[in-house]
Amino acid sequence: MAPVATSDSIQTNGTTNIGSHPTIQELKERAAGIFNPFYSPAANDENDPDYKYAKYKPSFPDLKWEPLGPQEVTDRATFADPEKKALLSAATKVQNLTPALGSEISGIDLRQLSDKQKDELALLVAERGVVFFRDQEISIREQLELARHWGPLHKHATTPVPREPGLEEVHVVYNDSSRRPDPSAFSKLELWHSDVSYELQPPSTTSLKVITGPPYGGDTLWSSGYALYSSFSPGFQKYLEGLYAVHSAVAQADGTRAAGHPVRREPVESIHPVVRVHPATGWKSVYVNPGFTRRILGLPKAESDAVLQLLFRQIAENVDFQVRFHWEPNSIAFWDNRVVTHSATFDFWPHTRHALRATPHGEKPTSVEEYEKSTGKSAKDRQLVIWEQEGVLDFVLKGTNPANGAGANGQAKPRGYND
Ligand code: SIN
Repeated sequence: MAPVATSDSIQTNGTTNIGSHPTIQELKERAAGIFNPFYSPAANDENDPDYKYAKYKPSFPDLKWEPLGPQEVTDRATFADPEKKALLSAATKVQNLTPALGSEISGIDLRQLSDKQKDELALLVAERGVVFFRDQEISIREQLELARHWGPLHKHATTPVPREPGLEEVHVVYNDSSRRPDPSAFSKLELWHSDVSYELQPPSTTSLKVITGPPYGGDTLWSSGYALYSSFSPGFQKYLEGLYAVHSAVAQADGTRAAGHPVRREPVESIHPVVRVHPATGWKSVYVNPGFTRRILGLPKAESDAVLQLLFRQIAENVDFQVRFHWEPNSIAFWDNRVVTHSATFDFWPHTRHALRATPHGEKPTSVEEYEKSTGKSAKDRQLVIWEQEGVLDFVLKGTNPANGAGANGQAKPRGYND
């Protein structure tokens, strides 16, 4: 006889008694209590009535928005001086954090940027994937204005907006002692995502400012889609270039409903090329992510699963493609969602972490074929461009050593890692 579900089958510590099953109602209640990393829980004010940023705490207004129509986007980075002189000459320090991605800039007040510098910042972010600034006094309304320079702003269908009216374009990230992350709710792999990649025109130069942060922990990691593309063999690169994948908002909307929050716009699914070309750099980037990419079109299911798992695991595991940033209050990051994925960490409970995001729409993702047809240019592998700039491309392609000119059959031999 099947075990009978009883109301005491779930113990108060969240474990289930062996030999009895929870009821559907109990499972639903349990799901609603789970910490879902793709939305932030509403928080009480009980413990912090004087919190400085109470007006930016999460709220979930019960609104209904129409489906998103086409967004008119002009990529400002395509207007930028390739040397970015106006921006970089104003900085006191520019530090590249890893070869693949990430730069930190000091000495600039983001409130003072000219339009020329904003264009150059967009290009720098497109090239470096993510760019960081610290000690920025920029307000959320100024952050939205800056983002609007790069494109019309996205309004998230499910994640919270600030309590203060008139800030519906802001995505609030908020966690405090009232919710302890539940590791049974998500794997570290599925936390990696590119923001709202399921939209027809997913975001471009996105910014997040941390206004309150834990003393340590709560870092964010980014992984480069350019580096992921460059890491594959030419045959596999070509194969990926011909593929299209489905990105879905459905699970995010379901999670929101399960938590008892409104879904302000019905969830959508979009089909995007697996390799997209950035319009300003002309570089090829793998555009899938564990958070929202569900399957590759036209492939046997087993093949789609295997290819996506390979790509997802490389995003999450290959540290050569990654940069990790530790925030301080008033740190701000700008990342190009077209060419990086990112993952927050949830290691800081019971501390508070509160951040505000502005998210401009980009273009509809462009495949390699579309890019080459529409521009008459060849899309590039970023790593080859960099090796060419550094004078080592011949060595890589033909085995010619730039230091001594030795050929492939001479003394110069590829070296492996053995430590
Ligand atoms: C986000 O996905 O936009 C938020 C990332 C973070 O909280 O670090």
